[in-house]
Amino acid sequence: MTKTAIIEQINLLRKEKNAIILAHYYQEAEIQDVADFVGDSLALAQWATKTTADIIVLCGVHFMGETAKILSPGKRVFIPDLKAGCSLADSCPADAFAKFIDEHPGHTVISYVNTTAAVKALTDIVVTSTNARQVVESLPKNEKIIFGPDKHLGDYINKLTGRNMLLWDGVCHVHAQFSLEKILHLKKEYPEALILAHPECPGYLLEVADHVGSTSSILKYATQSPFKQFIVATEAGILHQMQKENPDKLFIPAPPEDATCACNECFYMKMNTLEKLYLCLKNEQPEIFVDEEIRVKAVKSIERMLEISERYGL
Ligand code: 13P
Ligand code: SF4
Repeated sequence: MTKTAIIEQINLLRKEKNAIILAHYYQEAEIQDVADFVGDSLALAQWATKTTADIIVLCGVHFMGETAKILSPGKRVFIPDLKAGCSLADSCPADAFAKFIDEHPGHTVISYVNTTAAVKALTDIVVTSTNARQVVESLPKNEKIIFGPDKHLGDYINKLTGRNMLLWDGVCHVHAQFSLEKILHLKKEYPEALILAHPECPGYLLEVADHVGSTSSILKYATQSPFKQFIVATEAGILHQMQKENPDKLFIPAPPEDATCACNECFYMKMNTLEKLYLCLKNEQPEIFVDEEIRVKAVKSIERMLEISERYGL
């Protein structure tokens, strides 16, 4: 089938089945363009709670589909490729995280949304990179906190808030591998360019950044900035929306350490294709299921995040 025919079919099927297509900024450009809504991980969760669709097709990775299902158990949730996982979520198995919590009693547990449902069920409050600071600051100054699984985000929030959260030792394989040396070299080549970085990047890189923020924050910053050139240290999929919203500006993807790989692309995110999205809508699979006992525990930690986000207007 041609791309045009696939898109036609997707449009027919979503109408016929009352389905909504939600896509993360790291998805292939053609998926972003066909989606009903494109957003960061917080916005995708918020959409999952307010849509009146019967079916949610979450074009993102597995934990995003799980989060939508946890929040909307009455809806059917699909992702185009069930193998689209996340190295950060993988770095934090639920049994090991439970042991870590047991070893440090008396701590409030904060987990990044990039975790499995089982980890969320062990968590007091979930965060995304958009609201992590506000969630931490909503807790008393002397609160003892465990933060997992991203140690770079945790370290960044510790610095911002003056807290001393206990960090789980996890990283994202995409954000951990940007080359500081190559970014500084690019900066010499484009002295007018601002460096924009996602807080999943290591601290030494965040220190040279002009703006640190979630995917939506990076996009907003670039759009509102009077500057015309940007070096972007996050997954390269975000460049599609940046360019679309700012056709007159130059966006340069930050290079990875290894010049031979496309490591600034998340291969899990890129497992989803337009064709798989079409097949997913047509065949109503692969579907996301969450064990009800886990869901009931996990939903509390996500709802606390949504309440705090609403309070801060996020
Ligand atoms: P945000 O969309 O919250 O910025 O997160 C980025 C990410 O790594 C998603 O996997
Ligand atoms: Fe996970 Fe990193 Fe991919 Fe985001 S970019 S889905 S954190 S592996």
